[in-house]
Amino acid sequence: MSNSDRVETLRWVGDVDGHLVLIDQTLLPVEFQEIDCRSIEQVWEAIKQLRVRGAPAIGIAAAYGVCVGIQGASDDSTLFAQLNKAAEYLATSRPTAVNLFWALDRMKAKAATLQGQTVASIRTTLLEEARAIHDEDRAMCHAIGRHGAALLEDGQGVLTHCNAGGLATAEYGTALSVFFTAQDEGKNLRVFVDETRPLLQGARLTAWELSRRNIDATLICDSMAAQVMREGRVQAVITGADRIAANGDSANKIGTYSIAVLARAHGIPFYIAAPSSTFDLAIASGTEIPIEERASEEITHGFGRQTAPTGIKVYNPAFDVTPAEYIKAIITERGLIDPVSASQIQQVLAHP
Ligand code: MRU
Repeated sequence: MSNSDRVETLRWVGDVDGHLVLIDQTLLPVEFQEIDCRSIEQVWEAIKQLRVRGAPAIGIAAAYGVCVGIQGASDDSTLFAQLNKAAEYLATSRPTAVNLFWALDRMKAKAATLQGQTVASIRTTLLEEARAIHDEDRAMCHAIGRHGAALLEDGQGVLTHCNAGGLATAEYGTALSVFFTAQDEGKNLRVFVDETRPLLQGARLTAWELSRRNIDATLICDSMAAQVMREGRVQAVITGADRIAANGDSANKIGTYSIAVLARAHGIPFYIAAPSSTFDLAIASGTEIPIEERASEEITHGFGRQTAPTGIKVYNPAFDVTPAEYIKAIITERGLIDPVSASQIQQVLAHP
């Protein structure tokens, strides 16, 4: 990947008194604009409104958000109070992606080891921790790409849903990392991109990322997946995940479950690509995953235009859960989880 291909989803500018800069993903693909987040409220709003989105990117943004939240603390007791308040507040931004809570817990755990140090030293160490979360995610994405690319052959058609690309992570992505790595290895893939209603992450973001990398990408409406599969155009499906339970049940963008069922019906392997930070081993199965419900206007007034009668009842869950039995394998930075079972998950995740 050359530097010009690189999408810098988010970055910290300056030292401890610096701020978070993110690409405003709500404006893509028409406008490329970065926004500065200098207050905890701006970080919360950016996550809530999907200016920054995708499970790993949300976690990284929240870690830097904690660094913003502790700015201005005059003594260590004020700092710890501000830190707890910031973490609690950011945790209310979105409920489903476990990476958010994982990153906040990691920042709090690091802070707990720093009791008794000066304010300056605590702030420096916490910024280093946020940077470590960011750097580790970059490395995990590249490793996922290497493990996943081995599953694909030159000339194959693959389908993906939502955006699990560089924009959803520190860099490169999870599902898209597999396609980018396969391309780097000289394999030509034909990628079918679900547009991903209602917010069109596939059409706006995945299609944008694949086009920039000159990958053969074809956009389809979500409802066309069955037909594309029946026509034999797709040999594998790969998506990301927002939270994976101990038994392998995986939450991802709404519509993922139907794609997995369709893939099973057509004998096509369905893979999830996700880093270890997306696993929630504290919950036994997918029934315990909180599913975010979003505003009805996302469906009735998508991107500003009214497309449904005024007053119509709307149900808008942002995620669904694909049962483990539909997932052929989970591609992690630590290798493949295949078959997808509680014991196999524990075994693979135990070896960094
Ligand atoms: O609502 P979003 O855009 O945050 O949903 C994103 C997804 O569902 C992604 O597939 C998931 O977070 C994995 S990103 C590597």
